Amino acid sequence: MTVTHNSNEEIIGRAEINDVDAILAVPVVDPNEIEHVVKNDADSIFSWDYSLARPALRKLYEKAKTGQWNGTTDLPWDTDVDVEKSVAEDQAMLGVGLQPDVYIGTPVAKWGDKEWLQFGIESRNWTLSQFLHGEQGALICTAKITETVPWYDAKLYASTQVVDEARHVEVFARYLQEKLGGEYQVNAHLRMLLDDIVHDARWDMTYLGMQVMVEGLALAAFGFLHQFTNEPLLKQLLRYVMSDEARHVAFGVLSLKEVYDGMTDAEIKDRQEFAFEAAIRMRDRFMQQEVWDRMGINTRDIIPLVLADPTRGVFQSMLFSKIVPNCKKLGLLDRNDKWLRHKFEEMNVIQFEDWEDTGEEYVKFELGADDAQPVAGS
Ligand SMILES: [Fe+2]
Ligand SMILES: [Fe+2]
Repeated sequence: MTVTHNSNEEIIGRAEINDVDAILAVPVVDPNEIEHVVKNDADSIFSWDYSLARPALRKLYEKAKTGQWNGTTDLPWDTDVDVEKSVAEDQAMLGVGLQPDVYIGTPVAKWGDKEWLQFGIESRNWTLSQFLHGEQGALICTAKITETVPWYDAKLYASTQVVDEARHVEVFARYLQEKLGGEYQVNAHLRMLLDDIVHDARWDMTYLGMQVMVEGLALAAFGFLHQFTNEPLLKQLLRYVMSDEARHVAFGVLSLKEVYDGMTDAEIKDRQEFAFEAAIRMRDRFMQQEVWDRMGINTRDIIPLVLADPTRGVFQSMLFSKIVPNCKKLGLLDRNDKWLRHKFEEMNVIQFEDWEDTGEEYVKFELGADDAQPVAGS
């Protein structure tokens, strides 16, 4: 019997993925919000089977124990960070990430160097802020996985990831506070995604949402920023974080491969829909509506143009360069009449399907393996 997937409306709350009104209908998070409570419906599972059942996970656990670093003493915090200079250099090399002639007829078309630089600084701050909030999501999700995964080997590994994520929250928060003067609130779409991942009762969904989707995107984004930024503290911070992050994505891929190979089509359908929903939330997030707000630009006017901006599209699709091959490796792309493949085609990210998956790639990202060039998609 073939399974029937839910409609876009049921999965992401809108029929058209580019429905700007629906994207902007998600309210921006109050920047003064301090606490956010999410109900977690999952069971905590003990395992009395302490045998070595999954050597690949135990190998990762050993790597994690020796790969620890100290955010306080291993990073050069006395670096004098000149954000304006750093962003200006990046823009000189890469452009502003948008194609200015797309914005003719809007206030953005009148922007000079000063406004574009300000936009770049806000974007840098916003991007690192979303990394920070995503890291806290990872901290909470891996604590959850430690409780909910039924396998002893996975509990051991997940516990090391909790420490890794605490360190990541620590270093991004410190960088934002000490070097950039504070952070942006969590993006509305990112928060919605984190809420869904934390709330879901099925333990593999935490892995799928966090390790495969959110961390897969983070690994690509960190790699990209690490590669082009000349700011030495940020560069080193990202390098250290990536050495952990690659292990985390491997943990997700290795664990889920085993589970998904044994799942029925109906069970896989739910996972495909969740992966699609997560991909859409992350794509919506990259409209960075909070930045446009702060720049005094009406988001309703500008977001349709941002969506159609080819330069932006290239940057954005690169962020899926880890997610798509990992979904393929897990069998999610092509099960159920290639449902997720068609969704990724519609999102223009399917071209990454044959890039290297992250099941083994973490070795390249280990500290000290710098000659291996840990860049996005390499
Ligand atoms: Fe992290
Ligand atoms: Fe992580």
